[in-house]
Amino acid sequence: MGRLRSKDLLDTDLLTKEEILLIIDTAFRFKEGGLKSLSLTGEAISLLFFEPSTRTKNSFEIAGRKLGAMVVSMDTTGSSLVKGESALNTVRTLQAMGINYFVIRHRESGFPYQIAERVSASIINAGDGTRGHPTQALLDAMTMIEARGEIEGKRVVIVGDILHSRVARSNIWLLKKLGAEVILVGPPEFLPREFEKLGVEISYSLDNVIEDTDILMGLRIQRERMEKMRISVEEYIRRYQINRERVNRAKPDLIILHPGPVNVGIEMTEDILYSELSLVERQVTNGVFIRMAILSLLKETRDGSNT
Ligand code: CP
Repeated sequence: MGRLRSKDLLDTDLLTKEEILLIIDTAFRFKEGGLKSLSLTGEAISLLFFEPSTRTKNSFEIAGRKLGAMVVSMDTTGSSLVKGESALNTVRTLQAMGINYFVIRHRESGFPYQIAERVSASIINAGDGTRGHPTQALLDAMTMIEARGEIEGKRVVIVGDILHSRVARSNIWLLKKLGAEVILVGPPEFLPREFEKLGVEISYSLDNVIEDTDILMGLRIQRERMEKMRISVEEYIRRYQINRERVNRAKPDLIILHPGPVNVGIEMTEDILYSELSLVERQVTNGVFIRMAILSLLKETRDGSNT
């Protein structure tokens, strides 16, 4: 089995195709019961979330505990951060207590990178600003492979607020490495032409692409961004909502993903969210195994560099 090259997991553009497949394969081995060892016994993991999270934070906690690690969830509003201590000093202080793994979510794009180069601990990006959310993209890819066998050659449509989505960027980088055709769909104000430089197609109409779509991923329309839309919410729903009428025009083996949380009734209807086509809850399940794989593989890399 191969190894990850870096002590950190910062984003999918920094991973090779082989590293991506190694993480996903390791996650499948955890899910299928082939890997059981408590590989992080005696290790400590800090969850440092400066923004809210349900899925990412809790699944890292479960993953760490399943691997035998101590998991410490830092209360960022009740720590010395509020006395002015910097995030870097906070991480270095926790590292001095013996914590070697930090799972960080921060509103500033690039924040985990700044910390990673200043500490010896492993930094895992759990979402930085609008830039990236690599563990989400990895669990999305695992879910696509589980459902459709492979990603290569599949037409993957990502619909919603692409501009402000960290999930979209990490998915674009990863899906292109695995050979997918990626089509971005959304209103022009959320889908600048610059995205074409990433080797993707752009469409402003979901109806124009739905019939040739293999995998459809909805993105959350962030409530704070709605006022920036030049179209009304009603018009957004009319043009971009994933609903039964659109799904009926798609291929019969279409699968639907969404990173959550879903604005039910806006980007997706409730009947589609809970339908047989929706893999949204399977994404959440797979998130635990992807995060177990990442923690275990980072431990192997750390052990390898210490020998
Ligand atoms: N998909 C995702 O990152 O969800 P949370 O914000 O709940 O972690």
